[in-house]
Amino acid sequence: MSWRTVRVSLPGKDRSYPVRIGAGTLDAAGEAIAEATKATRAVVVSVPPVARRYAPRLERSLRAAGLRTHRIVVPDGDATKSLRQLQKLYDAMLEIGADRSTVVVALGGGVVGDLAGFLAASYLRGLPFVQVPTTVLAMVDSSVGGKTGVNVAQGKNLVGAFHQPSLVWADVEVLATLPARQRANGMVEAIKHGAILERRLFERFERDLERALALDPEALVPLLTRSVAIKADVVRRDEREKGVRTLLNFGHTLAHAVEKLSGYRGILHGEAVGMGMVFAARRSEALGVAPPGTAERIEAIVARLGMETELPGFPRRAYLSAIRVDKKRTEAHIRFVVLRRIGAADTVPLTPSEVYPPRPGPSRRRARRGQRK
Ligand SMILES: NC(=O)c1ccc[n+]([C@@H]2O[C@H](COP(=O)([O-])OP(=O)(O)OC[C@H]3O[C@@H](n4cnc5c(N)ncnc54)[C@H](O)[C@@H]3O)[C@@H](O)[C@H]2O)c1
Ligand SMILES: [Zn+2]
Repeated sequence: MSWRTVRVSLPGKDRSYPVRIGAGTLDAAGEAIAEATKATRAVVVSVPPVARRYAPRLERSLRAAGLRTHRIVVPDGDATKSLRQLQKLYDAMLEIGADRSTVVVALGGGVVGDLAGFLAASYLRGLPFVQVPTTVLAMVDSSVGGKTGVNVAQGKNLVGAFHQPSLVWADVEVLATLPARQRANGMVEAIKHGAILERRLFERFERDLERALALDPEALVPLLTRSVAIKADVVRRDEREKGVRTLLNFGHTLAHAVEKLSGYRGILHGEAVGMGMVFAARRSEALGVAPPGTAERIEAIVARLGMETELPGFPRRAYLSAIRVDKKRTEAHIRFVVLRRIGAADTVPLTPSEVYPPRPGPSRRRARRGQRK
């Protein structure tokens, strides 16, 4: 059993924490959680497909480390990230008698992490929190950065809090039961980190993608670790999303539009991001900010994930209105994330109509304006 560690350091006292990624490490989680939190009790929050397979082992290791354990299982699916579900969790916590010596442990994907994280952030104004991510997406993306929250009728992730975990404990062996489509889904965000900030990581994905998808730990653990390190570094430099963190939105302007126009059905987030990255890379070339051939590499790797690379054929006006209501917009302009090359991203201020022009084709004037910004 071995693992690699990425330290997420944030300004302020006691705000730094380790992300540990390894293979076959689940049974050692309890000891690490006990040490990281000094808690005497643990509430494990999970969903049925994950709880059934992994909660008993996690709880056994927590008890072996001297913690009392409780389990709360919530329904599977994004709809579980709701205020209604949160209320039920508060009730359960009160019934258990959870107090500040209780750690909330999220065992699952991003849904569980976001919901349990917000529970930990808000219950008694904040309990210690640990993430045990069980999806690729949660390992490389949602468990790092401290964003927690729920959806409301008006939109996704509109209510929440920043609450950093004390520890993230990821065992890639649990990914063996994750459906292949979900594995590929999470891999997109990991590849994205290479595309926007580290050419070497992107090239390692180009070399090792199939081995990583097949969960060969020798390929997968270093890729995930490096990807987390990049996100951790971005979060450290920009915890509240004022600057460099915007680059993480690469591919997301169109991804959010596609998700919205599809009614969040039939398409996974990473699949939408894959299309959005291909689109953004092509726009980068058309705007004259990325060298020719950049988009082709993005497209090739998205295709190797078994994903669609072209946007669904919604009318242009539908895309425009979806882009306009994206919450990340500022005024009339969007800080659209472009690639300067593989491994280097930047933002250019574009109107929705410039993001999605009437007919594809180069617009060099616009690109120069973007560069001056
Ligand atoms: N907080 C953040 O910064 C952040 C970032 C990105 C995404 N998110 C959120 O993350 C959520 C998506 O996360 P996700 O993609 O992990 O989805 P998810 O949590 O719904 O998990 C996907 C599916 O896989 C199943 N599953 C999980 N682990 C498994 C395993 N090891 N074996 C078998 N099945 C398993 C789950 O039960 C679920 O059906 C969204 O709600 C999104 O808003 C948050
Ligand atoms: Zn994303």
